[in-house]
Amino acid sequence: MTTAVIGKPISRVDGRAKVIGSATYAAEFDQPNQAYAAVVRSTVAAGRITSIETAEAEQAPGIVAVLTHRNAPKLAYAPHKGFTDPAIGERLHVLQDDRVNHQGHPIALVVADTLEQANHAATLLRVTYAPETAATDIDAGEPVLPTQQKTDQATTQPPETRRGDPAGALASAEVKVEQTYVIPRENHNPIEMHATVAAWNGDRLTLWDKSQYVYGVAEEIAAVFGIRAENVRVVSPFVGGAFGSGLRAWSHVTLAALGARVAGRPVKLMLSRREMYYGTGFRPHTVQRVALGASRDGRLTAILHDGYEETSTYEEFAEALLDATRILHSCPNVYTRHRLVPMNVHTPIWMRAPGEASGVFALECALDELAVALDIDPVELRLRNEPEQDEFKSLPFSSRSTRECYRVAAERFGWSRRTPKPRSMRDGRWLIGWGMATATYPVNFAPASAMARLLPDGTAEVTSAASDMGPGTWTSMTQVAADTLGLPIERVKFSLGDTRMPRTPPHGGSMTMASVGSAVQAACRKAREDALARGGANDLVGAMARLGQPVEATADSTPGDAGQRFSMHSFGAVFTEVAVDPDLGETRVRRIVGAYGAGRIVNPKTARSQCVGGMIGGMGMALMEHSVVDPRNGRVTNANLAEYAVPVHADAPPVMDVIFVDEKDPHVNPLGVKGLGEIALVGVAPAIGNAVYHATGKRLRELPITPDKLL
Ligand code: MOS
Repeated sequence: MTTAVIGKPISRVDGRAKVIGSATYAAEFDQPNQAYAAVVRSTVAAGRITSIETAEAEQAPGIVAVLTHRNAPKLAYAPHKGFTDPAIGERLHVLQDDRVNHQGHPIALVVADTLEQANHAATLLRVTYAPETAATDIDAGEPVLPTQQKTDQATTQPPETRRGDPAGALASAEVKVEQTYVIPRENHNPIEMHATVAAWNGDRLTLWDKSQYVYGVAEEIAAVFGIRAENVRVVSPFVGGAFGSGLRAWSHVTLAALGARVAGRPVKLMLSRREMYYGTGFRPHTVQRVALGASRDGRLTAILHDGYEETSTYEEFAEALLDATRILHSCPNVYTRHRLVPMNVHTPIWMRAPGEASGVFALECALDELAVALDIDPVELRLRNEPEQDEFKSLPFSSRSTRECYRVAAERFGWSRRTPKPRSMRDGRWLIGWGMATATYPVNFAPASAMARLLPDGTAEVTSAASDMGPGTWTSMTQVAADTLGLPIERVKFSLGDTRMPRTPPHGGSMTMASVGSAVQAACRKAREDALARGGANDLVGAMARLGQPVEATADSTPGDAGQRFSMHSFGAVFTEVAVDPDLGETRVRRIVGAYGAGRIVNPKTARSQCVGGMIGGMGMALMEHSVVDPRNGRVTNANLAEYAVPVHADAPPVMDVIFVDEKDPHVNPLGVKGLGEIALVGVAPAIGNAVYHATGKRLRELPITPDKLL
């Protein structure tokens, strides 16, 4: 029996359930006697509530409770800093006082028998405010150095770094470019909105919640209510996209639990699409200044990368904006400075390829500008500056396949046929542009646990409290388990998404395959060895039949010291072809070719799907996505999917080629995987921006690249 299933393009094991609608998402866990909650939100960006009239709402039909800061129970809000919480600051407290921190700040909760009754009564509150001057415009703000920068791998980086003499090297550089790049705020916009169903049983709480981190939700809500984390069960088997918005337990989870406690009934709270712009995080607006110095022959002599981004007034969220700059290209003199502008907005959160997507956009556009200034091919320029090691940490890379990625992607793309001059390539009346960029993302690995249970009938049940927001965790973990146990995939049932299962880190930072996968592998290995030893046979099915009772094993995976000895990152190269209508300024992306050195690929089918999703996300970033903030009141003027544009099928490039270069990395983790979720988005926006320059001769440094900017 050959059962090696790692590396096979297996279709999603949960695909059928999703297609026929039997996969249950958070808002579908209806409970008996359930009530419905609606949130009333502030219409000013800062100030105090001076009056809040609830009488009319309280008398509306079907009303169970109207909670405001005046009558809501005081919550414990015990100190708690989870893996995904900013290190500095304090989470938003809801309904505890009269303060308003941001537009959309929850100021009341209406609980009713039906959703319609709750929504209607929520319109009946009369609220007056004493508004205060609000920081709503990042350009008017004063950037400050954060206390510390915590990356999505929960490590910290200094906000300011320097090696060599960057300023001196820039001043004496033979060729230099210096520009500012701007990316506006973006919102995650998964198709499934955030939702929580909360039910109390005495002091025990169950939350059916859209989450990328069930243990994080349980621990946070336990701290908020001052109860033991073991008394909070969080269930989240399916997640309809999240991209990072599900990494923290936002205030609506607290509100659902609070509503259920006061109502004495289960409560369902589902956010509207509009509310998704006011309480579940976003990719912060960034402003980045990049200065590059180089010798005439195209060697980088100086990189200065100075960026700032918005955070809230009550927490310091600082993503890994400049980390890639320190390691992506070889350069002896590098300066990075990362600052924050506190704004009257709710706290941002990681959004797919957090930090890297934004930072690499600025760096890789600047590199393209340098290639133009030097009259050197952009791929050749990068090859001339390929580092031998991580020059920031002075460590060897565990593996780095950048050269191979450039080579295979360029070949597949046909890059050698590019004519370098802008506006030199056409297709009829369309201007054609070819652009490229480098991609990178760190390899993350955090402790995880899994349990494997072998049954006498020769099947196995494997569990781990992971999430699957779309990449195919259900499937890839089933593969790892089947492969390790030596069982056909049909004999393995994997399940996830429940705090009754062994603990895992957040489903983010591209660490699930490495962390949870290694734990699943370890648990299955242990169970198999145990069963074979006790069953006295060398085939597992025979051993289990002989034993006649289940064999269970739990195992942990923990990162070793490889991170001290190696710099561990995925690398990739992205090439794009755009067509720009010279009269209408419309940009169509025709082709994206990406090559990735991402270690071992567990499932080429879901991995390709993951990368295609990242390419489309990067295309949205380049051409469409923009949460437009009205500086008068901090309101998002396009808080809906009609006006917040994301790519739809008709926008998707007809050609999306995903190439995984062969990369065996024995250092990163037991499975040899590097993670794919984030790197798939990195590099796409700069490759498109560079292609638009090549097509039109116009260098657009502010995203998104919309037709008005090209005319
Ligand atoms: Mo990803 S932004 O770590 O969910």
